[in-house]
Amino acid sequence: MEIINRRKRMMSLARKLRREENRTIGLVPTMGALHEGHLSLIHEARALCDIVVVSVFVNPTQFGPQEDFASYPRDLTADAATLAEYNVDYVFAPTVEEMYPGGFSTYVTVEGLSHELEGASRPGHFRGVATVVAILLNAVRPHFAFFGQKDAQQSIILKQMVRDLAFDTEVVILPIVREESGLAMSSRNAYLDDRQRKAAGVLHRALTQARSAYDDGEHNAARLIELVRETIESEPSVRIDYVSINDAVSLEPLDRLDDEQPALLSLAAFVGKTRLIDNVVLEKSRKQDAAGAGG
Ligand SMILES: Nc1ncnc2c1ncn2[C@@H]1O[C@H](COP(=O)(O)OP(=O)(O)OP(=O)(O)O)[C@@H](O)[C@H]1O
Ligand SMILES: [Mg+2]
Repeated sequence: MEIINRRKRMMSLARKLRREENRTIGLVPTMGALHEGHLSLIHEARALCDIVVVSVFVNPTQFGPQEDFASYPRDLTADAATLAEYNVDYVFAPTVEEMYPGGFSTYVTVEGLSHELEGASRPGHFRGVATVVAILLNAVRPHFAFFGQKDAQQSIILKQMVRDLAFDTEVVILPIVREESGLAMSSRNAYLDDRQRKAAGVLHRALTQARSAYDDGEHNAARLIELVRETIESEPSVRIDYVSINDAVSLEPLDRLDDEQPALLSLAAFVGKTRLIDNVVLEKSRKQDAAGAGG
């Protein structure tokens, strides 16, 4: 496994692998502080691609001025040891100066999708994400790039960017990996103490309850949202930022859910100072399909 710090080295290597050796390249972009969520992406990349590149870069442009860029957990030595164990071929770990050299002035904004939900709470966040992923895709030239459904809106935005700007990469989205308590794995979970970690379990419980209500026929978005809010509010140390139901493809806000279009029930909440996100997709289950077909 080679650790690459330079953009130029990454680019010439990628060119060689792709053009001369005709190898399939998979890229897994991360901000490091690796957990099992990241590892599930790497596992899939390993299964699908000849060459697996994992980028480790805490991207300053996606953090707001009041956010945790400075204190974000960084441990490249530990991450590199984990990545070597998972048979990753290359770790791309550039410095900020390497990614955004002096005079840098080009940013990517995916209009429409970037300003609601996470984008409303974190202005400029998706501009930073789209920009850094565009640079990474150009540097690594992957056939496949892997992202997690935990960041559902990010996945939708990046698919849109890849389509609009004709990147020669297929975006692969993989399911949310959770702790035993149901808490979605996140590097930021490291900020939680034991009591907070326990309290944070309420987020997934609330989403699961709403999913049951949906499966039992509740298709009114406001009522499902209220259900989630009530459950979370029963946990005094958790403060809701937003709870929302949107079309899972267009992110259009929904009043009523139907069985034809999957809906994204997503939320953000603070546990102490730590901001967590989670979501579930509400759609007609295969079980109901089967029952219908058998009817
Ligand atoms: N629990 C998870 N399950 C599946 N994928 C995940 C999970 N957590 C993160 N990912 C994915 O890993 C990739 C890198 O994310 P990132 O490095 O920001 O980790 P993170 O856990 O989301 O950290 P943070 O919560 O601090 O942003 C993203 O595509 C993200 O969606
Ligand atoms: Mg993240």
